[in-house]
Amino acid sequence: MIDPPLDWPGYKSTALRHPKQPLIALPSSLTELTAPVLGPSRIGPLDNDLTRQHEGEPQGQRIIVQGRVVEEDGRPVPDTLVEVWQANAGGRYWHRNDNWPSPLDPNFTGLGRTITNADGEFRFTTIRPGAYPWGNHANAWRPAHIHFSLFGRAFTQRLVTQMYFPDDPLFFQDPIFNSVRDEKARELMICSFDYESTEELWALAYRWDIVLRRTPMEDA
Ligand SMILES: [Fe+2]
Repeated sequence: MIDPPLDWPGYKSTALRHPKQPLIALPSSLTELTAPVLGPSRIGPLDNDLTRQHEGEPQGQRIIVQGRVVEEDGRPVPDTLVEVWQANAGGRYWHRNDNWPSPLDPNFTGLGRTITNADGEFRFTTIRPGAYPWGNHANAWRPAHIHFSLFGRAFTQRLVTQMYFPDDPLFFQDPIFNSVRDEKARELMICSFDYESTEELWALAYRWDIVLRRTPMEDA
């Protein structure tokens, strides 16, 4: 009940996207067993600050999003590439396929990346994304969210998920959020407001920890 079904009728696109054959376990090769070809030198100093990638500052509410990547037993996952992408404050993506009538922000691309430290911690500075409409069903709106990718040790281990914000009034009608059918599991996708980490006269802060679970395939 934690993992969403691969084909979820409420989320129309899954009909064509979900695998129809049994999943195949790819054996780990030398690439996966040694270190990934990633390292701190590949990450620029501003890559985790989405508000400083252009000449001016983006519109919107400046926020800090931070947390830890840990294993199921609480061990930190260090040196893992964490990537994010998101819409701007008005809910518009910097993407040619996103044409809904909300303005682009010339100072916001919406892409960031960082590598977890020895304690598995990551931190981004960004702006709070807006909700956006999509064509899934009548008057469909995505709750505000930030897309996350964890690279793992190789591309075959990449995990992708979405982080949501507390008390979003759009949760009830969002088939992607609700494809995770267990309420407690859905709550794990929602960050918490972190007053302690807010920066006076600068930014609000949210905390979101990512716990890696064994995949269902490993149980088979
Ligand atoms: Fe999105």
